[in-house]
Amino acid sequence: MIEIINKLRQDFDYRIGSVSNSKQLEQIRIEFLGKKGQLQGLMKELRNASPQEKPKLGKDINLLKQHVEQTINDKDVSLGSKSFKNSSENFDTTLPGRKELTGTLHPITQVMEEITSIFFGLGFQVEEGPEIETDYYNFEALNIPKDHPARDMQDTFYIEDETVLRTHTSPVQIHVMENREPPLRIIAPGKVYRCDSDVSHTPMFHQIEGLMVDEGLSFSHLKGIMNIFLQEVFGKNTQIRFRPSFFPFTCPSAEVDIQCVMCNGKGCRVCSQTGWLEILGAGMVDPAVFQSVDYDPEKWTGFAFGLGIERIAMLKFGINDIRLFFENDLRFLKQF
Ligand code: DAH
Repeated sequence: MIEIINKLRQDFDYRIGSVSNSKQLEQIRIEFLGKKGQLQGLMKELRNASPQEKPKLGKDINLLKQHVEQTINDKDVSLGSKSFKNSSENFDTTLPGRKELTGTLHPITQVMEEITSIFFGLGFQVEEGPEIETDYYNFEALNIPKDHPARDMQDTFYIEDETVLRTHTSPVQIHVMENREPPLRIIAPGKVYRCDSDVSHTPMFHQIEGLMVDEGLSFSHLKGIMNIFLQEVFGKNTQIRFRPSFFPFTCPSAEVDIQCVMCNGKGCRVCSQTGWLEILGAGMVDPAVFQSVDYDPEKWTGFAFGLGIERIAMLKFGINDIRLFFENDLRFLKQF
């Protein structure tokens, strides 16, 4: 299918070169972008592709579509401006042009896409889950019973007694495991909500959850994957350490730190003089979680991890107030 996409691109580039009036241009537009056009045909073909190939092919088709649209637009402008020039003797070519404002991807989207593509390369599939969750998925199935003190760690927005805005992306683990058999490797990016607001907290922020389940997975697999991931994001020489921690849904649990990217471990204000920055929570999936989705904990083991995207973006871009991400101030957003 890759060949077909490439061939179509060549064909389009060749044909557009010889277009000299708007009627011809319209014909090409219908042929490539119309409802029964070539690109629609490709989209239909995509349904028959294997699930492994689909994301890459989908992306290629979209890129081709953007290319076709952009080229046709450019051609349209150049054909139009020619006739305008001919018809207007009084056109003042010394007037300054009107500048087109081009948008950019939001820094959070950029970081989210970067992280997603790193894990995609490691064979992880992207999954999504609802932002409005039941108490069961957000807490209970993750081994956080009603009276458990760990519920205090998260300032939950309750909609009703049993319905919450999800406080983390971990419930996606449960949805996926309920619907699929192991082995599996997934990541789940998305919005999460907590009743908290200051320079490093906003009531809505983004997390990425990861989960891998297979036979014979151990903590060293988790360490290996975290090493590859964090060195890819923060650079090949990034030092990483694991600290013992507690999460109800993993056992053993750890917090993962990287050497401070601001002072290279010497100690500064950003790392509170420790030389280290806390980046994510992780651990081996607790057997109680496997039991709640009917996986046999004697047979399967797994690891999970969760991290906040805003925090990674702040460290990567040197941003010191999380609220800047959500003010929609173009002077800020334009810098990325
Ligand atoms: N859900 C945790 C939180 O919101 C983060 C987390 C920690 C996710 C450890 C995990 C994990 O999957 O293993 O803060």
